[in-house]
Amino acid sequence: RTLDDAGDLKGKRVLVRVDLNVPMENGRVTDATRITRVLPTIREIAEAGGRVVLLAHFGRPKGKPDPKESLRPIAEAVAKDLGRPVAFAEDCIGPKAAEAVAALGDGGVAMLENTRFHAGEEKNDPAFVQALAANGDVYVNEAFSASHRAHASTEGLAHVLPAYAGRLMQAEIEALTKGLEAPARPVVAIVGGSKVSTKIDLLVNLVGKVDALVIGGGMANTFLHATGLGVGRSLCERDLAGTALRIIEAAREKNCAIILPVDAVVAEEFKANAPHHTYGIDAIPESGMILDVGAQSVERVAAALNDAKTLVWNGPLGAFEFPPFDQGTVAAARHAAERTKAGKLVSVAGGGDTVAALNHAGVAEAFTYVSTAGGAFLEWLEGKPLPGVDALRV
Ligand code: 3PG
Repeated sequence: RTLDDAGDLKGKRVLVRVDLNVPMENGRVTDATRITRVLPTIREIAEAGGRVVLLAHFGRPKGKPDPKESLRPIAEAVAKDLGRPVAFAEDCIGPKAAEAVAALGDGGVAMLENTRFHAGEEKNDPAFVQALAANGDVYVNEAFSASHRAHASTEGLAHVLPAYAGRLMQAEIEALTKGLEAPARPVVAIVGGSKVSTKIDLLVNLVGKVDALVIGGGMANTFLHATGLGVGRSLCERDLAGTALRIIEAAREKNCAIILPVDAVVAEEFKANAPHHTYGIDAIPESGMILDVGAQSVERVAAALNDAKTLVWNGPLGAFEFPPFDQGTVAAARHAAERTKAGKLVSVAGGGDTVAALNHAGVAEAFTYVSTAGGAFLEWLEGKPLPGVDALRV
């Protein structure tokens, strides 16, 4: 159920759960993407005469108020980007919330304080759900990126108020369905990042779903080590060699090609501009650390992208935050962007580091879809149910 099914919202109090868990430094929002992406839904409801009541969490305050995790500065940032006033209530339930909501006129916008200041939020406590619901006639979930949490404001409310997906929620679900549930084939997945241990479920799910799986980043080292290759002093989870071999075996059974690096950029130090050389993957020096995939590996990724109709990407291919070890990720991202612009590829990416890497490569705009989600994107790729999404199904 989406906003299209919500009927006339004029005069209705619409509780809109957004994810404004944005990066902040010294009280300022440093990346406003999550704010920008929810503005169309806020405007649509306000322009229909609805009274918008924003619910959100920030940080992990563990059920107690903590001024450091107040949403007040974020409410100010929303007001600025929205170009309308946003009233702020110092509590998300009780008299302060009720007062702010009662003062709203049609088309007005208020934001309530961090839902995680109450223990009932994460416990999805029915009494807390009712206390939140007291300020709304309708519930709109616009927080795809928090929908892996079965919390009161992300899941509980959907059971006690008429509940609809907001426009961003809708766009995320549509894009992710195109990416993995009903994709144009062949599908290639690129999975990078530093550790296999955080992505085992992801790899296991993907080998059963995609036609080719590119493994890059630090996690590739564990796979290389498992196949008997030396990785020197590279990041490597040696205790997961057995797991890596089982994933390779499962891929073989399911006709999923695993694409590992064939060459690597190696340095002695983990820092920007450390002296480096490219080696064949069977010749990594014992004293060296693999910090990026080499040019031949990038060519193999490009070839896989040329054969594919769909790309799902999570995790950088190298230590992209330290130049020149960003080059493998940047080259692969640019190639994917070119294929997408040419209409040959549907490209879907998500996860904090991935989005930062695509922005760094200057190609995020060219991708078909870049998710606002970190953990939720990962859980969806792992094939896990997302409680916040499931609660909106008819
Ligand atoms: C996120 O930032 O990915 C979401 O807001 C979820 O935050 P959490 O991991 O603290 O639940």
